[in-house]
Amino acid sequence: MESEKNSTPVTLTQYIIRSQPPHSRGEFTLMMMAIQTAVKVIEKNIRRAGMLGMFGYLTNQSQNATGDSQAKLDVIANNAFKAYLMTSTCIAALGSEEEETLVIVDFDKQGDYLIFFDPLDGSSNIDANVSVGSIWGIWRVPKGKKFASIEDANQFIRTLKGNDIVSAGYAMYGSATNLVLTSGHGVDGFTLDPNIGEFLLTHPHICIPKKRRIFSVNEGNYNKWEAWYREYIEHVKKNKYTARYIGSMVGDVHRTLLYGGIFCYPRDAGKVEGKLRFLYEAAPMALIVEQAGGKALSGTGRILDQSIHRLHQRTPVYLGSRHEIDICMSFRDKHAKKQEGDKQGSKL
Ligand code: AHG
Ligand code: MN
Ligand code: MN
Repeated sequence: MESEKNSTPVTLTQYIIRSQPPHSRGEFTLMMMAIQTAVKVIEKNIRRAGMLGMFGYLTNQSQNATGDSQAKLDVIANNAFKAYLMTSTCIAALGSEEEETLVIVDFDKQGDYLIFFDPLDGSSNIDANVSVGSIWGIWRVPKGKKFASIEDANQFIRTLKGNDIVSAGYAMYGSATNLVLTSGHGVDGFTLDPNIGEFLLTHPHICIPKKRRIFSVNEGNYNKWEAWYREYIEHVKKNKYTARYIGSMVGDVHRTLLYGGIFCYPRDAGKVEGKLRFLYEAAPMALIVEQAGGKALSGTGRILDQSIHRLHQRTPVYLGSRHEIDICMSFRDKHAKKQEGDKQGSKL
């Protein structure tokens, strides 16, 4: 959606309302409003965290469901998402990095969507004032389906596939606050105008550059990676790529969308399933990257082709410019072929 003819910028609210067909301007619009409000609340808290003493970790050594220490802002961000979504009347249940289990809405107030979110991504960076963000992915619940219990909701999510995701987005609290959205028809980006408190459409139709020699991975894990991936990184170094790694998925993926290249969090000897969580990190970013014309793979196929087993499941992630992902996977394929050849040889 372009800016208006008289160049008045389109607000996120207008964009959301206009992108729904007239007869279905309902639950989805309300849910996006709830997300937008939560993002604004988080943004304000982050900007004032230094003054309010809100940096740092919780004093009781609290850990979240996946074993990470909880920063104070993790909890504030989770509460903001939860508060606005639970009262939005459009979700049946939610799942969060900061919640042990799915959280279901009161039976008679359940709506048609399921949302999974990482309320504050990159929280280890927050005290150093490095970009952090929020990520969300939205799935549909069939009309009339209600969850009587958490177990009921757990059973339902196991019937879903990554591919059933209907919308995804992220907010990035950086030098400016950006919000990037897709509902399966391309990707559009917005910037918060602090003067009027509105997100304005600043990056319509984001397309990831097809080719770019930028690689982004935590090389501290080099010795634990699989051999094929180490070989790929050697190739990258011999071919004068530029290295960029923030350690906030939102920041690294946002840069990859705009500048191109490859972002990876591979599996390694200590993290055999990878580190990033499928429902609220990998799958939403995979939908965004694919919708921007890139590729998002797990090392054994498309990230979104995976089935859902549990709320906090993890997956390896390789995403970015198509050409670069193909180069990366050619190392995996070469290695698999060689291993197959060795196996056949040893049978002779
Ligand atoms: P979170 O802060 O939500 O737990 O996510 C951290 C993630 C992700 O943002 C980032 O890509 C990755 O962890 C960084 O991990 P390493 O510190 O192992 O590189
Ligand atoms: Mn995260
Ligand atoms: Mn997080």
